[in-house]
Amino acid sequence: MMKEMGAVMLAMRKCGAGLRRCLPWSRYILRYMSAGMTGRKIPAAPLPSEEASLYVHWPYCLKRCSYCNFNKYISRDVNHAEMRACLQLETEALLRVSQVSRITSVFFGGGTPSLAPPSTIAAILETVARRADLPVDAEVTLEINPTPMGLASLEEFRLAGVNRFSIGVQSLHDEALRVFGRDHNSQDALHTIAEAQRLCPGRVSVDVIFGRPGQTVEFWEAELNELLSACDDHVSLYQLTLERGTRLFKQVEAGQLTMPGDDVTAHMYESARRILGKRGFLQYEVSNFARNGAVSSHNISYWRAGQYLGVGPGAHGRFIPHQEGAILREAWTQTLEPDVWMKEVRCRGHGTRRRIQLGHLALLEEVLAMGLRLVEGVSHQLWKEFSPDADLQQVFGRSTEVQDLQKRGLLVLDDRGLRCSWGGLALLDSVLPPLLLQLQAYHDHQGASG
Ligand SMILES: C[S@@+](CC[C@H](N)C(=O)[O-])C[C@H]1O[C@@H](n2cnc3c(N)ncnc32)[C@H](O)[C@@H]1O
Ligand code: SF4
Repeated sequence: MMKEMGAVMLAMRKCGAGLRRCLPWSRYILRYMSAGMTGRKIPAAPLPSEEASLYVHWPYCLKRCSYCNFNKYISRDVNHAEMRACLQLETEALLRVSQVSRITSVFFGGGTPSLAPPSTIAAILETVARRADLPVDAEVTLEINPTPMGLASLEEFRLAGVNRFSIGVQSLHDEALRVFGRDHNSQDALHTIAEAQRLCPGRVSVDVIFGRPGQTVEFWEAELNELLSACDDHVSLYQLTLERGTRLFKQVEAGQLTMPGDDVTAHMYESARRILGKRGFLQYEVSNFARNGAVSSHNISYWRAGQYLGVGPGAHGRFIPHQEGAILREAWTQTLEPDVWMKEVRCRGHGTRRRIQLGHLALLEEVLAMGLRLVEGVSHQLWKEFSPDADLQQVFGRSTEVQDLQKRGLLVLDDRGLRCSWGGLALLDSVLPPLLLQLQAYHDHQGASG
């Protein structure tokens, strides 16, 4: 059991510059076809495939944190004018190639996007609003590092159009922040939370990392309770992942620091869920908890396999390049290195390094893997949008492995859909593989018999 619990926690990693998700291509085709076949007018509201969320990656940081392997660069002389122009150009290019006409939410992530001039954030939002419909109430999130310097610009970001802040608190323990190599202390974090809450009440999230070297369960519980007394209505909880190539990885390899065992981190996760629940935070995803309904609509759209555009160095996207006549969703990845990316954007409008067409099975795998991260799981309705010919019961209902997961109380398949139980969510990394194997077996069997 403990071994299983240890395997779990990978699911709690932060998904980076471009969460994976998929697109309702079948929904698009069905709606489009039926409109054409019956001669009905195409509805005025955009078809789902004409909608997307937008992720914008800001690749620069002031300092390298000891645990982080995100796509980030430490640069003292960022060419802000060029970055802004290229982010605008690439936004326009991806809107054009996808033919997306409505952006439902925007997320500025990094790196440290709170180092971008607020005028850059405003310019990108203006570009979106010029080229697509950006509803006035669309969620616009900015990740911020809680440094005293950053505090001063929060109001300007708000004026630029940001209406949600996601603050990288990581810990309220100053020694831990030092080990992490952060450029702020716990007081800075508390001031930033207060100021962000003043500017966007009810729309402030905090990121916190657990399972760090030397942390005990008791210490973690005290720290979380302190954070919950100070924070707003949204918490993202990440288990520390030891990433190869990071300073932390080397320190642990050299025996200078020791990571807590799997059983300890499993215990920390469970106690955090319990504490958050008691304090009124409902879990809606493996790592995400919200009070007063303050869920992130942007992130939910990834987990419900919505379409998204990814702009900026190393960003990922999932959309149909309609302009090229495509009907299948593709996974797009932008060039990682900012200087190379800028040259490519100047040369051809976008710095796309890789495009992969997602076949039907790959798409369903994403729907399943992303959807099961949500407490609500994969509803019958969502599944049908991607798999009109085989419902959840047909694909998973007869599998003995799936029945076994149900008997063990880890998985539920009922009239609402397919989802993890409370215990199953903590073991998602063990629950998912048999489901993916079953999906593949069903797909292969249909292919062979069809
Ligand atoms: C993309 S990072 C950037 C956010 C911002 N630059 C910051 O540091 O606050 C987003 C979040 O991922 C989480 N994260 C990054 N690396 C991690 C790791 N190795 N293990 C667990 N969480 C990690 C942190 O909680 C961080 O706030
Ligand atoms: S500030 Fe954020 S993105 Fe930059 S190195 Fe630290 S954790 Fe990574």
